Amino acid sequence: MSSERPDIDHSNFLKRLWRSFTIAPLVPEDDRERKRTVLNTLVLHLHPPTVPMATIRYTHTWGLGGMGLVLFLLLASTGLLLMFTYEPAPGQAYGSILKLKGHFLFGKFVRNIHHWSANAFIVVALLHMLRVFFTGGHREPRQFNWILGLCLLLFVLFSNFTGYLLPWDQMAYWAITIMTSMLAYIPLAGNWLQEILRGGGEIGPATLVNFYTLHTTLLPILFVIFMPWHFWRVRKAGGVVLPKAEGGAGEDNPERVHTIPYLVVKEFAVALTLIAAIFLLSIFVNAPLQEMANPGMSPNPAKAPWYFLGFQELLMHFHPLFAVFVIPVLTGILMILLPYFRYGSDGIGTWFISKRGRRMAVISAAAAMIFTPGAVILDEYLIDLQKWLPGLPPEISNGLVPFVMLLAVVTGYYFYLKRKYESTKAEITQAVFIFLLTSFIVLTIIGVWFRGEGMKLVWPGG
Ligand code: HEM
Repeated sequence: MSSERPDIDHSNFLKRLWRSFTIAPLVPEDDRERKRTVLNTLVLHLHPPTVPMATIRYTHTWGLGGMGLVLFLLLASTGLLLMFTYEPAPGQAYGSILKLKGHFLFGKFVRNIHHWSANAFIVVALLHMLRVFFTGGHREPRQFNWILGLCLLLFVLFSNFTGYLLPWDQMAYWAITIMTSMLAYIPLAGNWLQEILRGGGEIGPATLVNFYTLHTTLLPILFVIFMPWHFWRVRKAGGVVLPKAEGGAGEDNPERVHTIPYLVVKEFAVALTLIAAIFLLSIFVNAPLQEMANPGMSPNPAKAPWYFLGFQELLMHFHPLFAVFVIPVLTGILMILLPYFRYGSDGIGTWFISKRGRRMAVISAAAAMIFTPGAVILDEYLIDLQKWLPGLPPEISNGLVPFVMLLAVVTGYYFYLKRKYESTKAEITQAVFIFLLTSFIVLTIIGVWFRGEGMKLVWPGG
């Protein structure tokens, strides 16, 4: 037997080894071409082959709609992982979260990503809605897509709300107790709705199963139906609204660029930045978890989740019939009707419609920042309508009367703007919208930071 070893061409061997690690050279050229075509076709199902250059500027949409999609994907993937350990029963739910945090590799990290993405989803959906509104993206021919967007916003809020109960800690249990007890004030259907959602009279095992099913099955299915529908309507309208020069003189034939790579590269940049931000937040800040739910001991103050605290604050000033039903339903109807008012075509594609529109917007925000805390303080320490109007049922003295007062303020403001600025319908609608929106944001801030024990007004940290 020869002791000689066969000749090995080392350089060739190393080359082949290197190639086995790098897939690309092993894939034949035509196969790579096919893959590229498949990817491109996928992108081009969502986007047209070319888009107006002006619409892909970051400051036009801020990429907020795309961020919504990224957050949904993050939530779906981390939610799926959480389902492997979570147990939707009052005896086990809290323990399964503790186990997830303590025993599983990256368990806490996955939970944190899910928590922060869910909260970011609310903020991003709201900001996206504002971007659409302030650039006139809700107006003809995009009215129906605005309605689809409102449905998506409801799904985002309801997904957060149903997910809130699942850890079964004190915060979750009592927030959902407050929120579901508010439902009873809805005329006619209130008690029925409350019982359906709770799966009985009290928050218990049936409630947890109901919330878990809505959170992990029904709502994700609704997203999967409504999101592509929403995107398709954007495409059908010829893409997002086209930015116009100040004064409304838009271009008829805007310069167009290829979607691949110009738009796709920007979308990737936004997606990666967002994912990095969520990951960083999830590394350094843990999702909250209090002690296990104790139905016998309510925390003081017992607050709703932050995104509903504006409504909880309304409860401090209006009879629940108005705070829980009349005001939210009227707001919902107004939001649905917003794109259907006859505005003409002025200002579509221009942020805040015009220079005058911008000035009115700033003034409206400032007016609401002064009016709302003022009204809250007056109502807390001075006004006592129930005492001042004895003999009237509380629905009237504490509900209808302050509501009519509020309507008078908003109507007065509307006519003041009309006279002072001789503005268009679109500008006035925008200004009143900003006034109401800022008021609601101020109420939410008061609810989050300025309400303490017994829901009394306090100075934060004081
Ligand atoms: C899950 C939440 C949502 C997702 C994922 C989403 C996604 C998107 C995307 C990707 C676009 C096109 C690009 C962009 O504007 O950034 C878009 C446009 C639009 N969205 Fe949404 N959206 C959501 C919620 C909403 C909400 C809450 C509203 C309003 C109530 C809304 C109304 C619209 C309208 C009217 C357009 C067309 C705007 C235009 O042409 O300029 N969307 N959305």
